Order: sequence, then structure tokens, then C-alpha cells
Amino acid sequence: MRMYDIIEKKRDGHELTDAEIAFFVDGYVAGRIPDYQASALLMAIYLRGMSAEETRLLTLHMMNSGEVVDLSGIPGATVDKHSTGGVGDKTSLAVVPMLAAMDPGRTFVAKMTGRGLGHTGGTVDKLESIPGFNTALSQEAFIDCVREHGAAIIGQTGNLVPADKLIYALRDVTATVSSIPLIASSIMSKKLTAGSSCILLDVKVGSGAFMKTVPEAVELAQAMVAIGEGMGRRVKALVTNMDRPLGHAIGNALEVAEVIETLHGRGPADLEHEVLLIASDLLELTGHCTRQEAEARARRVIADGSAFAAFKEIVEAQDGDPRVLDDPSLLPGATLTRTFAAPCDGFVAHIDTEAVGIASAELGAGRLTKEDAIDYGAGITLLKNYGDPVVAGEPVAILHANDPAKLAAGAERLAGAYTFAAKQPPATPLLYATVT
Ligand code: URA
Repeated sequence: MRMYDIIEKKRDGHELTDAEIAFFVDGYVAGRIPDYQASALLMAIYLRGMSAEETRLLTLHMMNSGEVVDLSGIPGATVDKHSTGGVGDKTSLAVVPMLAAMDPGRTFVAKMTGRGLGHTGGTVDKLESIPGFNTALSQEAFIDCVREHGAAIIGQTGNLVPADKLIYALRDVTATVSSIPLIASSIMSKKLTAGSSCILLDVKVGSGAFMKTVPEAVELAQAMVAIGEGMGRRVKALVTNMDRPLGHAIGNALEVAEVIETLHGRGPADLEHEVLLIASDLLELTGHCTRQEAEARARRVIADGSAFAAFKEIVEAQDGDPRVLDDPSLLPGATLTRTFAAPCDGFVAHIDTEAVGIASAELGAGRLTKEDAIDYGAGITLLKNYGDPVVAGEPVAILHANDPAKLAAGAERLAGAYTFAAKQPPATPLLYATVT
């Protein structure tokens, strides 16, 4: 078999066989297939798509490219959640400790997560802004942490889904991210490998998401639910609004600080709404209680401080410095700031949310190339979001950076991302659809 022929076959729109998909996945992981050929195949998949069967096979070969976590020793329901990626989407950081606090001793969160991709942030990068936080736990340590503390979060470390690790990084720099089969296989290979029995998928849609329209997002949601259920897991997907950044903070340490506020019940309304929704749906999936009871518990663990205490326990268990949770000023910061002000009176009529994500990456919060290091203190604080009224000269956002050239680049990009109008734009829902 030759990689050249596989690329040509997909380029010409034909369906790949099980053996061909295995040849690509195994060969790329083993280093036999160079980046340029893998990139060419990814672009062909991006342009030509994959059938449901090809996507399922790609997912299985990616999952089996490394070790698979065995959570059978955990004495309760195991749950996981995943977002397809957005701007300012820090829901996982809040939902994981909430779940640990909502059903202690009966529901356990075993979350495997990724780094920033394209214009979107990644939970691993956000967690690594907490000094010392270790997302590279061994499988044994991960399972121990889940059992003892009710939750743990790991990156794709060691030999977990090495195929996704490599393909994800390559897609990030070859404009091949927003493809339904590539996203579905990437997410579901990780979710299946991480071993949880209940999985909640948050499929983002809009200008800041990889899926730009609701029908596309529903198609992605259906593809992922089908893969998961076919593997005997309970899976539910929400299709949520990413036509506007979620919350006020974009950038790693800034987002951790916003999660701390949210766990204290002082978070932005849209973020609080979404974390309550996801946490309640996830607990309901376990079958341990009704939706109503799950929602009451989600609200209670924020109000009584137990979700915040659980976050602290997880941070400490994974070697993070817990002092930053009580004093977020200890998180990495930025030496330079610049204010973006409204150019006229009116309303924020549209936000090109992808451009906001790129602006944050240009400030240093994300990677523009595979090798880039993250500046954990860089990012954007939004003071005005979609639909908000503004007066000329009023601050709309504050940019944070540690490099003047990056600050200038991010500021220019952000200014182009906002559209102002005299009339208030129509309100849009936070939740578009639910797929089971
Ligand atoms: N999140 C992932 O884990 N993979 C993707 O491909 C996109 C978002």
C-alpha cells in the first residue's frame, strides 16, 4: 500500500477502506508517513468529506493508536464532557468540579482534554496557567485521582490517543480544522479512550465555532452521538451559540480567574447559564436523579461553595498551586494593556468571534504555529458583548499582552471584529438544539 494512492483516492472523492485508514493512522503515528503526506490527506478529507463508516473507522483506529483508559474500577458512574471549541469557552473548568460536588461518591469525572486549536482555546492550556498544574498524569495516577477526588483532568499524555495528538497539531496549522469527520473522530477517539460511560458534547455554532451554521452543527452532533452510542456509551449533545464569545474573559489565566468567579456565583450570566445546563444534563445522563433534581444540585454546589472547594481539591491533587484560587492575582499576568473603545454611539450589532479568538492568539494566548509557546497572561477582557449598548469612546474591551508588537497586532484585529449599529440587534438563543 502507498500513501500516495490513498491521498489520490480521497482527493478524487472515493471511500477509503478499513485497511487504508489503518495504514494512514498507524503509519503517521509510527513516523513512516511524513507531515506533508498527512497534510495532503487531511486536506482531501476536508474537501471531500467521509462517510459515516469511514468516520467510525477513523475514530476506532485513532482510539486504538495508544492505550485505552480502563475505568471499570471506579465505583460509580463515570462522566465526561467535551466542547467542539469556542472563544472564551471555559465551561469544562467549572463543570468538572461542579459534577464532583453534585453527586459525591456516585458520579466521577474522568476528563481528557486538548490544547488550543485554531482560533479556539484549549482546557489544557488554561489549566497550565495555574502554576504547577500537571495535566500529564500517568493512567494510574489519573484513575487514582478520579477515585479519590471525584474528578481529574488530563491532556493526551503518554500513549493516550497519539494519533489525535499528532493529527490535531497538524490540522491546527494546515487550515483543516472545521471538517465534520475530522472533528467527530478527534473528539470521539478521546472520549472513548478516556473510558467514561456518560458523555455530554457541547457543539458550538456561529462565527467563533468550527461549525458556522446550525444544520452543520446538528450534523456533527448526530455523527458524534452515533459513534458514542455505537460503542455502548450514553451520549447527549447540545448545540450552543458561539456567535459571541462566552463570558467576558478570553485567554488562559484570565479565563481561570473568570471560572473562579463563576464558582463563587459571580460569573457572567451567559457562562453561568451554560455551566448549569451542562452540569445538570450530565448528571441526568447518569440516571442518578431527575433533571429537576440535577439542576437544583448544580445551583446548590455553587451557592454553598462546594464546587469551588472541589476545584481547589482537584488543583491541589494535580500539583497546582491552590493559592491562586484564593488570590487570582498570583496567576500569570500581562505587563501591557490597551483599551479598545467604541467609535460611535449605538449597539454591538455583530462580533466576528473567530477574529476575536485570532486576536487573542496574536496577543500571545494561542499558537500561530505548532511550535509556539503560550503566554498565559495574554488575552482580552470584553466589557461589551453582542447586543450591548455603547456610547462613543466607551471602553469595549481591554487587551492584555507582554510584547508591544503582539499588543498592536491583537488590537488591530479586535477593532475589525466588532460591528456597531444604531439599532439593537435581535436577541439570539444560547441553546439551539439538543441531540440524543
Ligand atoms: N476539539 C477537538 O478535540 N478536536 C477537534 O477536532 C475540534 C475540537
